[in-house]
Amino acid sequence: MTDTATKTPAVKTLPDAQTVTSVKHWTDSLFSFRVTRPQSLRFRSGEFVMIGLMQTDEKTGKEKPLLRAYSIASPNWDEELEFYSIKVPDGPLTSRLQHIKEGDEIILRPKPVGTLVHDALLPGKRVWFLATGTGLAPFASLMRDPETYEKFDEVIMMHTCRTVEELTYGRELVEGLQNDELIGEMVEGKLKYYPTTTREDFPTMGRITTNLSSGKVFEDLGLAPMNPETDRAMVCGSLAFNKDVMEVLESFGLREGANSEPREYVVEKAFVGDGV
Ligand code: FAD
Ligand code: A2P
Repeated sequence: MTDTATKTPAVKTLPDAQTVTSVKHWTDSLFSFRVTRPQSLRFRSGEFVMIGLMQTDEKTGKEKPLLRAYSIASPNWDEELEFYSIKVPDGPLTSRLQHIKEGDEIILRPKPVGTLVHDALLPGKRVWFLATGTGLAPFASLMRDPETYEKFDEVIMMHTCRTVEELTYGRELVEGLQNDELIGEMVEGKLKYYPTTTREDFPTMGRITTNLSSGKVFEDLGLAPMNPETDRAMVCGSLAFNKDVMEVLESFGLREGANSEPREYVVEKAFVGDGV
């Protein structure tokens, strides 16, 4: 082995290595980062990929990839890929991933999949994006995709977090969209943003499920209640949130769809586990 070979990090030898181009920390437990995009990678806004870092196998001592599912937060026209991530203190991946810096490399398996795609919904007039926590990520992609505004007259982004600062990534993204050269005009008047908190004072508060069931969000935004003829929804949050919000959507007459059978709403887990 040559000197150069021994000094080369293991991840560089992988065909799926991508370079980090920027990192931004939003709170103690949330950050976003951008990486180079593999030339061959095509994806539908809303899909997820497997990303990760190399780790040493405790038994064999060999290097192997440690991968986790991540929604692509950037739209499909972007030259780079963006991700929005939690920092789980003892999380095998994120306890290390949170320390990445510009110029570092991560592994990215270029096989996008997922249910939060336009193809899985029947045509409609309004689309509701319903997210808690990092469940915002697929909608950060879909909100920046012109197809969203071509397909729907109104796009309502409901995002709920415990605290005000956890809303910042989403809030800045929505504000940036309004001034965006490419889709600023398309977004105007169509995108309605409804952020809420549940554990800190904020002008709009409460769980998404409560604000839909009570009709508060319709009142606040001056919209007619949900109706299966006109409304479509995409859901991304914890298992408990997904389960509860599905019940609410069904109570309005919406039915779950899939890529193979488009209907009125689709759901994806933002993570596996209880997310305490
Ligand atoms: P893990 O061992 O994977 O998780 C440890 C525990 O942390 C979990 O049991 C859970 O209780 C909690 N946890 C994990 N992820 C989250 C989260 N995002 N929010 C709140 N609590 C969490 N994570 C992202 O940060 N951004 C994404 O865009 C994203 N997209 C995903 C898409 C899909 C389809 C799935 C299934 C998961 C997604 N995740 C996302 C979760 C991600 O795969 C990892 O679980 C996360 O990065 C933590 O990895 P870890 O190895 O540090 O901890
Ligand atoms: P709450 O503070 O009332 O639990 P978490 O950080 O636990 O994943 O929660 C993120 C956000 O999602 C919080 O605002 C939380 O509200 C809300 N949430 C958690 N579980 C549910 C649920 N089952 N239905 C609706 N909202 C939920």
